[in-house]
Amino acid sequence: IPLERYRNFCIVAHIDHGKSTLSDRLLEHTGTISAGDGNKQVLDKLDVERERGITVKAQTCTMIYKHKDGLDYLLHLVDTPGHVDFRAEVTRSYSSCSGALLLVDASQGVQAQTVANFYLAFAQGLSLVPVVNKIDMASADVPRVLEQLETVFELDTSTAVKVSAKTGQGVGEILPAVISNIPAPEGDPKKPLRMLLVDSWYDTFKGVVLLVRLFDGTLKQGDKVHSFATGNEYIVGEVGIQYPDGLPQKVLRAGQVGYVFFNPGMKRIQDAKLGDTFTNVGYEDIVKPLPGFEEPKPMVFVAAFPTNQDDYGRLADSIAHLVLNDRSVTLQKDYSEALGAGWRLGFLGSLHCSVFQDRLRQEHGASIIITEPAVPTKIVWSTGEEQIVTNPAEFPDPDDHRIRSATLYEPFVNATVTLPEEYVGRCIEICENARGVQKSLEFFTATQVILKYELPAASLVDDLFGKLKGATKGYATLDYEDAGWRQAQLVKLNLLVNKKAVDAVARIVHVSQVERLGRQWVTKFKEHVDRQMFEVIIQAAAGRRIVARETIKPFRKDVLAKLHASDITRRRKLLEKQKAGRKRLRAVGNVIIDQSAFQKFLSK
Ligand code: GTP
Repeated sequence: IPLERYRNFCIVAHIDHGKSTLSDRLLEHTGTISAGDGNKQVLDKLDVERERGITVKAQTCTMIYKHKDGLDYLLHLVDTPGHVDFRAEVTRSYSSCSGALLLVDASQGVQAQTVANFYLAFAQGLSLVPVVNKIDMASADVPRVLEQLETVFELDTSTAVKVSAKTGQGVGEILPAVISNIPAPEGDPKKPLRMLLVDSWYDTFKGVVLLVRLFDGTLKQGDKVHSFATGNEYIVGEVGIQYPDGLPQKVLRAGQVGYVFFNPGMKRIQDAKLGDTFTNVGYEDIVKPLPGFEEPKPMVFVAAFPTNQDDYGRLADSIAHLVLNDRSVTLQKDYSEALGAGWRLGFLGSLHCSVFQDRLRQEHGASIIITEPAVPTKIVWSTGEEQIVTNPAEFPDPDDHRIRSATLYEPFVNATVTLPEEYVGRCIEICENARGVQKSLEFFTATQVILKYELPAASLVDDLFGKLKGATKGYATLDYEDAGWRQAQLVKLNLLVNKKAVDAVARIVHVSQVERLGRQWVTKFKEHVDRQMFEVIIQAAAGRRIVARETIKPFRKDVLAKLHASDITRRRKLLEKQKAGRKRLRAVGNVIIDQSAFQKFLSK
């Protein structure tokens, strides 16, 4: 199939508007997969995605389509993650395409991620084909959606395709529209190789597999290639297309999207730098690399600890495995006085973090303790030196005199919220309470509003989205992007148990929050700590100032003393139970605390 009959496209949509369902229909329509229930959502490969119905990792699939002109076309459908935390992946996927289906749910209309993803696609110069989905629904309002597309995006909707991905109605009109409205990729197979690394994953049999888009040249087994990012050289072991799983090919040509793995393979998945350019060995001085991509930047951090240190090895393996499948997670060893040895994990955003957390909790239930998600803090010392703190334990003590002359910064985001007009008042209040600064308020139809706010990233981990949804009967949608650092009055909030700080619980918070959070902490912690032989004082301290306090009264009686001396079996049982329990106990200062107390305290 010649280059002019290639089409590379993706689907731009808000979460839940039916991207995965439509992808499946297109694959069925071209006979790439057989119709039926067994193959649902082929492109969402990770288990997390199936469980949560969210596309996290971009996958791609090739289809061969016989057009009405009687000719075969080679179509590459590049799947993109729907969620904002994965913007780098989205941009990378878009850059391997020349067009996109702009998919909008007929009953919901344009939403926050439709807007955000539209602008990303538009900035990449993609040709857009409007597709209105879910027209089978009783609440579908196609004219309203078309009007929104015209007013918000100034799109010509006369070519819009109306479909139901569920029933298949109208789906047959999509690929003809792709062929006539999306241009064929450009590129010259005779030139030296210029190949973009779009995605990578680890395959048990093949090792590190790369998803690549060829801009120039060809690629076949035995070719020697050079990586611009690492300077490494590799010999091609196999090339092929995802159809929908790997199908080996003799050669990949300019314009195509396909997979490649090397022989010998890449040693470490870290050597596959997403956004890297490859060329033929010997041409690295002649070929210009494609514009690269930023390394993913973790914005939300949690620490995880085994409840029982005997489980350390088992959990370490499991976390390493999860990280291998999601390259945007960063992993470091961590140690807490209260909780022992563990790990510190960094995520792109709060949803990304919660998907991963759910996964860990699901697999390990009671055997893992996960701390509250936190955003990084930037400290600019009076010397002008900068330090980014991602672990509150590394934040200087209130007694450290240097901190008083230092300036503190927290990350901010530009947030876009769409919502029905009747809830505007409540949503503004929520954003203001979250220390947001309003940027604009715009009506895009008579009843739909787009609110733009500058907000601290910390408000997102404090479930701003949940609050907005709660205030709008679930109608609010949210999208955000990094807006850099803002100076802020921040302080380290510590939980003290008999004057000793529980390091794993500490958080860096805005001064306006310390009273409320401090009170909440001591009340909640008290519920989960057992009585001791002596009085236990629980306090919350912001810097050196105590903001809340609770006391746990000591035991009056010895439990064992109640038992009759002859009741030996019962006594032994009790002692054994205590022994089993002891493993999970840890000391904070002189206070013995059951690990499950931390777990209950830290779970919402
Ligand atoms: P992400 O992968 O999370 O971005 O979501 P998505 O956009 O891929 O949405 P998905 O395909 O998972 O569809 C979301 C929900 O809408 C599912 O419950 C689908 O069954 C449903 N759905 C998709 N298309 C249609 C349609 O045409 N009609 C109706 N009634 N429901 C649909």
